[in-house]
Amino acid sequence: MRVGVLTGGGDCPGLNAVIRAVVRKGEVAHGDQFVGFLDGWRGVIENRTLALDVERCRGILPRGGTILGTSRTNPYKVDGGVAKALDTLRSERIDALVAIGGEDTLGVASRMAAEGVAVVGVPKTIDNDLSVTEVTFGFHTAVQVAMEAIDRLHTTAESHDRVIVCEVMGRHAGWIATYAGIAGGAAEILVPEEPFDIDLVCRNLKNRHAKGRFASIVVVAEGAVPVEGTMTLASPEVDQFGHPRLGGIANVLAEEIEQRTGFETRVTILGHVQRGGTPTAFDRVLATRFGVAAIDAVHDEAFGQMVALQADRIVRVPLDEAVKELKTVDPALLHDVAEVFWG
Ligand code: F6P
Repeated sequence: MRVGVLTGGGDCPGLNAVIRAVVRKGEVAHGDQFVGFLDGWRGVIENRTLALDVERCRGILPRGGTILGTSRTNPYKVDGGVAKALDTLRSERIDALVAIGGEDTLGVASRMAAEGVAVVGVPKTIDNDLSVTEVTFGFHTAVQVAMEAIDRLHTTAESHDRVIVCEVMGRHAGWIATYAGIAGGAAEILVPEEPFDIDLVCRNLKNRHAKGRFASIVVVAEGAVPVEGTMTLASPEVDQFGHPRLGGIANVLAEEIEQRTGFETRVTILGHVQRGGTPTAFDRVLATRFGVAAIDAVHDEAFGQMVALQADRIVRVPLDEAVKELKTVDPALLHDVAEVFWG
């Protein structure tokens, strides 16, 4: 078969491990030929490709990013985008397409499947907010990076008896904040799922500091929002999928905390450090399992499906089901576990 591969949306550690696994199993077990599309759906629209084979994939397992490049291009928002993409798939004689991405890339894949494209999805995102799969690769690496940063922030915060607000990624879901916050011993964790009450946050910090020299790390997801009317945030720009470009809530929060508590407060915004670099062992293994399962799905003609992890087994689920709703943080994890250590 001639199989196209693309990576779309924000990059994520483990993408190369998926590409390598798809190509390895496809070439060796099935004699497939591979066409890599550059920069996500943009490469399909513009017919920009990279030949992929086992040789080209050597050495990429530990590398972060994606050798195919990525973009947030949405063919349904580009003039004639879908028709051009379908033309490319025809002219490149693509029998099946493996789309590796998050809710947006897979949302497009789901619509393309309805247009008759033979597509299989692979879920990725450091945000871990895709439903139907228990976890996405990239998340574990991002949490590890954030936790290590929080560990480092602890020692400097303790030396100066300061509050440090550490902002992590997480647009609509606070998975990274919650996991890194619990693992790093955060004094407060603020997530998009539950608007935060700045009064309560400051009261908890004051309680904590009243007990002695206890520096505090406040972990905030970039998409966290205050209870309506309590703090003013700037309105961000939006991308082709309508998502806001976030980042910076930690600055507003730190100012508010310093003013209300009188504690010296500093800010660290981790940003893209969480998305870069080598994947953890867990993410390499998950990405490899997903890649092998995706090419198997292609040969079983399980089109319009996505591979997913459920109860530690790789299963197939319909793409449209996978992108229907986001997976948000279980309130029990926040309230029954994380909160035990606040205040
Ligand atoms: O891919 C998800 C994500 O990392 C979000 O957590 C974050 O809001 C967004 O991407 C940042 O996107 P960009 O790299 O386009 O600024």
